[in-house]
Amino acid sequence: TPQNLAVIVGSLREASLNRLAARQLIRLAPEGLKGEIVEIRQLPLYDQDLDETPPQEWTAFRGRIRAADAVLFVTPEYNRSVPGVLKNAIDVGSRPYGKSAWNGKPAAVMSVSPGAIGGFGANHHLRQSLVFLNMPILQQPEAYVGQAGTLFDSSGNIADAGTLKFFQSFIDAFATWIRRNTG
Ligand code: FNR
Repeated sequence: TPQNLAVIVGSLREASLNRLAARQLIRLAPEGLKGEIVEIRQLPLYDQDLDETPPQEWTAFRGRIRAADAVLFVTPEYNRSVPGVLKNAIDVGSRPYGKSAWNGKPAAVMSVSPGAIGGFGANHHLRQSLVFLNMPILQQPEAYVGQAGTLFDSSGNIADAGTLKFFQSFIDAFATWIRRNTG
């Protein structure tokens, strides 16, 4: 049976470079690994007062993550950290206490930025949370995708052969990592 990969994109923007990168990774995923973007836009802000009466959007999101075998995060960097919408999704998935939907799921992080540093700060802030959430995180290759404004052609595909090869090696390494850390 194929393994289900929940793909979380840290940007809500229609023309998001991170969403293009996420779609490219889903297309490149090897046989047996089926990636699907799990949306986070609809999630009400996490509020501990609602733990007993969770909004339906929280419950549905937690269910999607629980059903996944692994999680791929593709995120921009906002002010050297992760966008608030992504942190909110992580917090929503982590509760109620002791019932985190993230627990034990193999994870990988790609950060994508039009800037030169490739979202390094966001990538590592995110890793800090994932360590606490007990998610075994792919270590290598690291994926800080800089200068992303010129990466994609008008159909949203990566034109540059070297970059495409890097994306392929990243998703292949993650597929191997998932197999090693599940079942
Ligand atoms: C940014 N951007 C940005 N880029 C970066 O490399 N480091 C940073 O710290 C920030 N900070 C930041 C804060 C805020 C509030 C915004 C809106 C933007 C620029 C960011 O990388 C750029 O807008 C990307 O295109 C966002 O990713 P998507 O939406 O294209 O996926």
